Amino acid sequence: MFIKKVIVDQVRNLSHVSLEGFESFNLLVGPNGSGKTSFLEAVALASQGRSFRSHKITHVINHEDSTLSVFIEAEDRHGLNHRIGIRRNRQNQFQVRVNGEGIHSLAELSHVLPILVIDNEAFQLLDGSASVRSRFLDWGVFHVKHEFYHQWRIYSRALKQRNELLKSGHSNQDEYDVWDEHILNAGFAITQYRLAFLQVFNIHFLQYAKMFDPLFADIALGFKTGWDRVNHDVCERMPEDWLDEGSLSDKFRSNLSQDIRYKRTQLGAHRADLHITINKMDARDVLSRGQKKSLICALKLAMAKTLKQTMARYPVLLLDDLPAELDTEHLNAVLSVINDEQYQAFITSVDTQLGNNNMPLKARMFHVEHGKISTANGDINA
Ligand SMILES: Nc1ncnc2c1ncn2[C@@H]1O[C@H](COP(=O)(O)OP(=O)(O)OP(=O)(O)O)[C@@H](O)[C@H]1O
Ligand SMILES: [Mg+2]
Repeated sequence: MFIKKVIVDQVRNLSHVSLEGFESFNLLVGPNGSGKTSFLEAVALASQGRSFRSHKITHVINHEDSTLSVFIEAEDRHGLNHRIGIRRNRQNQFQVRVNGEGIHSLAELSHVLPILVIDNEAFQLLDGSASVRSRFLDWGVFHVKHEFYHQWRIYSRALKQRNELLKSGHSNQDEYDVWDEHILNAGFAITQYRLAFLQVFNIHFLQYAKMFDPLFADIALGFKTGWDRVNHDVCERMPEDWLDEGSLSDKFRSNLSQDIRYKRTQLGAHRADLHITINKMDARDVLSRGQKKSLICALKLAMAKTLKQTMARYPVLLLDDLPAELDTEHLNAVLSVINDEQYQAFITSVDTQLGNNNMPLKARMFHVEHGKISTANGDINA
C-alpha cells in the first residue's frame, strides 16, 4: 500500500494536519514533543483502530476535545484507491468507513492497510513476555491465512470458559470436556498455521539478520508450541516430523490437576513463544542495545517480506526514531532493505542527519513543530 493523503484531527497535539505528496521514504523531523510520534500514531489508528502507544483512547484524543478522527487515502499495487476513515470518542465508541462503507470489526480494518511499527516498545519483542512474541507472530499469520482468525476466536472463547471453570474450582474432567475439545482442535490448527508461516518467515529473518550484523552469522529461530518445553528449530525440522496431535491431547488432559491448582490453563497454543539464539545463547542475554535494534528490524522486515511474498501485500512501515541506537552502517543496511523491497516508510527523527547523508532518491522531508507539519519547502499544512 502507498499512502497518498493523511488528514488528522485531534490526535494528541495534532489538532488539525492535512498532508499529501508522500514519497516512498518520508522523514518527519522536529524537536522533542513536537508531534512526530503522534503522526505515526494517527496513521496506526486508521490501520488498526487503536494506538500502538496507549491502550486508552482518552490519552490519545487531544486534551481539549472529545473526538479524534483520521482519514487516509492509499493506493494499492493495482492502482486502486482505498479511503479509510476512523472516528473515536472518549466513550470508546468508534466509526470506521472503508471506501464509503461502514465496517464493524477492527480486525477487518487491519486487512485494508497493514502497517508495521518499530518504536521503543519494539524492544519488548526480545525482552518482553512470550505473549508479545506470539502476538507478533499471529499478526503475520492472520494476514496470510484468513482461517486463522476463525480458529483463534474459537480457541480464545473456549480458553476463557475453561479458565472460569478452573477459577470456580470445578474438578471433574467431564465438565471440561466440551471446552477441551475446542481448545485441542483449534489449538492444533493454530499451531499448524503458525508453523507454515514460520517456514517462510524464518528464511527472510535469517537472511536479514546476517546481512545486518556479522555477529548474527550463527543465529537461529526457535519455536515453542505452548505445550512442550522443547524449542523446535523451525528451519531444520519439518513440522510433520514432530508436531503430534496425540501428544498435545495427552499432555493437556493429564495437566488438569496442575491447572486446578493454579486456577488457569497452563498448556496450549496460548503459551506459544519464539526464541532467538546466537551461538546457542539467548539473544536477549548477549546483545547490546543497538544489536537488539538491528535484530528487531530484521524481525519486522522479515514479517513485511513474508506478507509481500505470500500475499503480494506491501505493509507500510512506521519507524519511530529509527536512527536512535543505530550507527550509520546499521542504519544504512536497514534503509537499503526498505528501499530495495519498495515499502513506503514514515520515519521520525530529531535531526535531519538521515536526510542529509543517507536519504534515498525517492524521499521527502517534513518539519514538525508544535503540532504543525510543514513540507520541507515551507508550506504549512495545518
Ligand atoms: N492527549 C493529548 N492532547 C494534547 N497533547 C498531548 C496529548 N498527549 C500527549 N500530548 C503532547 O503531544 C506532544 C507531542 O508528543 P509526541 O510524542 O508526538 O512528540 P515527538 O515529536 O514524538 O517527541 P520526541 O522527539 O520526544 O519523541 C507532546 O508535547 C505531548 O506532551
Ligand atoms: Mg516521539
